[in-house]
Amino acid sequence: MALDRTTVPNDLSAFWMPFTANRQFKKAPRMFVAAKDMHYTTADGRQVLDGTAGLWCCNAGHARPKIVEAIEGQARQLDYAPAFQMGHPLAFELANRLRDMAPDPFQHVFFTNSGSESVDTALKIALAWHRARGEGSRTRLIGRERGYHGVGFGGISVGGIVNNRRYFGTLLTGVDHLPHTHLPEKNAFTRGQPEHGAHLADELERIVALHGAETIAAVIVEPMAGSTGVLLPPKGYLERLREICTRHGILLIFDEVITGFGRLGSSFAAEHFNVMPDIITTAKGLTNGVIPMGAVLVTSEIHDAFMEGPEHLIELFHGYTYSGNPMAAAAGIATLETYREEGLFQRAADMAPYWEDALHSLKGLPHVIDIRNMGLIGAVELEPIPGEPTKRAFSAFLKAYEKGLLIRTTGDIIALSPPLIIEKEHVDTLFETLAEVLKSLD
Ligand SMILES: Cc1ncc(COP(=O)(O)O)c(C=O)c1O
Repeated sequence: MALDRTTVPNDLSAFWMPFTANRQFKKAPRMFVAAKDMHYTTADGRQVLDGTAGLWCCNAGHARPKIVEAIEGQARQLDYAPAFQMGHPLAFELANRLRDMAPDPFQHVFFTNSGSESVDTALKIALAWHRARGEGSRTRLIGRERGYHGVGFGGISVGGIVNNRRYFGTLLTGVDHLPHTHLPEKNAFTRGQPEHGAHLADELERIVALHGAETIAAVIVEPMAGSTGVLLPPKGYLERLREICTRHGILLIFDEVITGFGRLGSSFAAEHFNVMPDIITTAKGLTNGVIPMGAVLVTSEIHDAFMEGPEHLIELFHGYTYSGNPMAAAAGIATLETYREEGLFQRAADMAPYWEDALHSLKGLPHVIDIRNMGLIGAVELEPIPGEPTKRAFSAFLKAYEKGLLIRTTGDIIALSPPLIIEKEHVDTLFETLAEVLKSLD
């Protein structure tokens, strides 16, 4: 008889962990067993300050009562309803609430289960929209170097992080990339949006000249690139991208999986930068990370183009078994209520200057070559160890964890994005701990 391995303690081999150094982890596991507000509890009973809102998603902090109650109640009331050709009230309610909090042009919502699915959905809607309007020659998709749009084939094709692309074949065809906007020699240690780099948006003109505008469906960018290590849009850059897209009939997609739901101090980055795309992708903070869910916001102009032809026919051949899932919808509604009742987006905006000062106090510490920030987000870029990229930052991550602080690293960049409920004393603790960690690095 097979051994019942679920009763064997410390057997970590079956779970192939995502985006993790599996062998390193399984030799010295880092396990969280509980969480409340700003802190995680580890398996050995230590408190760890959450400097990253989980994975940029727990914007309201952990185990928030309203969200917990909503999920418990929903599991008893209606656990699942078919997503196709059937509905349930909460999905409509959540869509209405999202519409109400989004900038005016966004009147319709398509539900997904993750950021990756939101990106694939947005790209597919863009392609199908052009086709619905008789412009089926618009099939090209334009992403950006260093962009992160999740891990579906659509997302890694328009994305620009080499390790997410190089192992996975030829990807989607007909994709080009804008240059990234990281100009450390000109913009290092800028507070907020950097001065230099708006001209990089003009590269879109070069791509249009190369292929012809009538072949290009959409441009997708993160208004602030998060996962690649917090790259802020240079002043004027997003405006210029918008203007070029409009001039050539190209849809502009903002991937707001990180920037949505208060990270920059407003509902969406589109509002923060006052640049309106045609499609917004979201996930993460939509449900406070508690139940997987994403949403794609589109304008009436896009939505209405599909609402043609015989009414008994499906208008868009796309959707997921769990699109608008009742449990996720309940979590989403409770999350948006928590954000509103506690004024968390404004709170992030109010805390941002204190955060910025504390973050920039790390300037001058060993190996720090750049610091970047906006809203409640920050990055500390470290000089890589020659010939061993990523090792220094990973070592910082491990040391921070030992000292009771959760940070995130990507390459040799430390990224910080705490829950929006963070208090000044947490900010102080976070940066004092990080300073100690930086001083102790080889
Ligand atoms: C901008 C952006 N898009 C898409 C994704 C993918 O989201 P998920 O991991 O939920 O698929 C992420 C995740 O970090 C992201 O930051």
